Amino acid sequence: MTRDPGVYALPPAPVDLTRFFIPERMTQLFHTPGYAGLSLEKRRRYNQLTGLFLNEMLVFFEDILAETVLGALLAGPLPKAVAEQLAAFRWEEQRHAEMFKALNRKAAPALYRGRDFHFVRVPRAARLLLDAAARRPRLFPLFLWVMILQEDRSLYYSREILKLKDVLDPSFVHVYRVHMADEAGHVRADLDLLERYWAPVPAPWRRVNARMLRWIFGEFFTVPKRAGLRVLETWAAEFPDEAARLPYWRSQLAALPASRDYHASLFSRESVPAAFAGFDRWPELAGMSRELRAYVPGGVR
Ligand SMILES: [Fe+2]
Ligand SMILES: [Fe+2]
Repeated sequence: MTRDPGVYALPPAPVDLTRFFIPERMTQLFHTPGYAGLSLEKRRRYNQLTGLFLNEMLVFFEDILAETVLGALLAGPLPKAVAEQLAAFRWEEQRHAEMFKALNRKAAPALYRGRDFHFVRVPRAARLLLDAAARRPRLFPLFLWVMILQEDRSLYYSREILKLKDVLDPSFVHVYRVHMADEAGHVRADLDLLERYWAPVPAPWRRVNARMLRWIFGEFFTVPKRAGLRVLETWAAEFPDEAARLPYWRSQLAALPASRDYHASLFSRESVPAAFAGFDRWPELAGMSRELRAYVPGGVR
């Protein structure tokens, strides 16, 4: 059962640029010592740009990946009920991708003229590698963990955004509310898929998958790299005094991976409960604690 496509339409009112888009804790710079000294105008603009960046991440990892992984699973033999469930899942992710892209175009038309990604630009070699592996989810079921981590976290983001629904931009609040309604079902579907495609894999091959999973998180999620720097640079380009301080801000971002608070803001028992509970079941995933520092194997925080 899929929803009426009309629910994914954006509200007609323009995006309110006098408001923050997301909770401040969801941004990278918030976790640096320099952030508290910034003016409201600068904090708000950084927050808005990060909101756009997080939307791009959702489109890239949740939806493009779901398309590749679910598309590949649907192309193979599946029980009819599972195939129907995955087809609905895929349909919803397609609607989400359109919705988040439309939100970014509405919030920042100049950044998204003729393209869907401004901040997230995966190097071609990495993209080819990810695509090649994600198209073979039976061999590389690690992508199911990427999916559940992203979807679990998007639920948390929606909850956090809804807590500030009277303060944040109404279009962002609307989109995250609509998204949340579908994602709880996706997390359940991911758990079923892990049961189907991770559990039966021999332990040595699960360990290989676990190593690849760690690489993906270190490369794309936990360390501010290319996209996080592009958010910073786009922001600084709007404030000449901050452009002059770019080396300082870069060094602040570079120090973030050592911050437990920063790691906890990305992935924690609170934000990705289903994914971490899933990790607990598999000894080869205990090493995820090296990339996701707030993960303590066995459920203790
Ligand atoms: Fe989604
Ligand atoms: Fe999803």
